[in-house]
Amino acid sequence: MKIFLDTANLESIKKFNDMGLLDGITTNPSLLSKEGGNPKNAMEEITKIIKGDVSLEVVSTEYSGMIEEGKRLREYGDNVVVKVPMTPDGLKACKSLSSEGIPVNVTLIFSSNQALLAAKSGAKYVSPFIGRLDDIGQNGMHLIKEIKEIFSNYNFGTQILVASIRHPLHVIDAAKIGADVVTLPPAVLEKMLHHPLTTIGLENFLKDWEKLKSGNPDIKI
Ligand code: E4P
Repeated sequence: MKIFLDTANLESIKKFNDMGLLDGITTNPSLLSKEGGNPKNAMEEITKIIKGDVSLEVVSTEYSGMIEEGKRLREYGDNVVVKVPMTPDGLKACKSLSSEGIPVNVTLIFSSNQALLAAKSGAKYVSPFIGRLDDIGQNGMHLIKEIKEIFSNYNFGTQILVASIRHPLHVIDAAKIGADVVTLPPAVLEKMLHHPLTTIGLENFLKDWEKLKSGNPDIKI
């Protein structure tokens, strides 16, 4: 399963990329707005730092504007995936951009029917937002299961990118289902790294090593 970071925060991107954990990045207008400044600089920088796919989203709501913006976004790099909303114009733009060889991520997916239509429009990724479904009392992970089942009946080549992830359990569930990608807020990826028994275990190893060293000051590993 690929791990993308769901952020436009350069510090987090550099930190987790340096650890070798990132296969890609997803951004959206809200995430860019959260960072402030000129989004152009952030988009430029992210596409340079990350080797894998970087989703950059259009803000036009009609077809020709999406195509224009999608092509402009692609100028940031060959790793740019154009993100379009799950609307009739978004699907039309997905079809056109995909047939020109420009990869598309269809975002704001909340049903299996929407995922099916996006796949038929040639999307490289569909982004079902599971946390937002959980927020309104629906089961986001059931949606991932259903989309996985539907896609496995056909040869779409479309990848399931699990979005709107809220906690590490979502990641485990997505991996058990066999989702292709999870896109994680930096705080969720940070939580996945840690376990209290790892911290305690390491502290004890180091304490015991110091004990050993106190009798043999010259020893080294
Ligand atoms: C995905 O590409 C979106 O950027 C993101 O996962 C949305 O998550 P949210 O519901 O936490 O805003």
